[in-house]
Amino acid sequence: MKNTQRPIGIYDSGIGGLTVAHAITKLLPGEDILYFGDTAHLPYGDKSEAAIQAYSIKIADVLLKKGCKAIVIACNSASSAAYELLKEYVRNDAHILNVIDPMIAHVCEHFAGEEVGLIGTRRTVASGVYHQRLAETCPSIKLRSLATPLLAPMIEEGFFNNQISHEIIAQYLSESGLEGIKALILACTHYPLIKKEIDGFYNGHMAILDSSEIVAMALKDHLEKNGLAHSGTRSSKRFFVSDYTPSFEASTRLFFGKMVHLEQHRLWN
Ligand code: DGL
Repeated sequence: MKNTQRPIGIYDSGIGGLTVAHAITKLLPGEDILYFGDTAHLPYGDKSEAAIQAYSIKIADVLLKKGCKAIVIACNSASSAAYELLKEYVRNDAHILNVIDPMIAHVCEHFAGEEVGLIGTRRTVASGVYHQRLAETCPSIKLRSLATPLLAPMIEEGFFNNQISHEIIAQYLSESGLEGIKALILACTHYPLIKKEIDGFYNGHMAILDSSEIVAMALKDHLEKNGLAHSGTRSSKRFFVSDYTPSFEASTRLFFGKMVHLEQHRLWN
């Protein structure tokens, strides 16, 4: 098979990464997609770095065996814990992309000299990876980050656009640590689903940065620059999970815009 025709692998701790997969399939409709959701081990947001690294290596093995030309780490928690290791591990077999670097590039371009907020899981915030990358590439930006661990489970349970979600979101966003920001990075797969509510909290006066579209554009650019883009008109999409349940399958509708069929692929037998 020609390199260009090989699929794009996308993985996440679960089905939240379907927000990124959805943005990628919209922007690159000719590319074959293999999605892997590690539903047996979610949430990654509260796991140790070592655990996420071990899961990520297993998943990369699955995606490499299936011939992926590129692997997108759709999960912020996994991007912060396992990107460097995975790049070392995979070497020349596939290109590895994360969800953090495209966001850093975007923020540097548009918000130099400003204060920027970030919300994400405990793992993402504790890793300090956004602070570190900004300090390296755009030190004039002051980053204020806040762990918002209730948001992902809340969204998974379908609690958004209602009174409970409004109150939880308002409580988090009112924290003094986020005062004075000019933009807010949504550093979690799930948060595109509450973007409108966050926008409502700020009465439309905040730049809300959703990584799914930014990542899809960075992937397109990367494939084109490296001669890996496939411009076919038909493509296949397969969605694997490490632990299948009907409720995960039902929830795919929330994150992908329509329900998709999930196939079980265990990481450990
Ligand atoms: N996918 C995770 C992230 O983007 C959120 C869910 C989890 O904690 O596993 O950080």
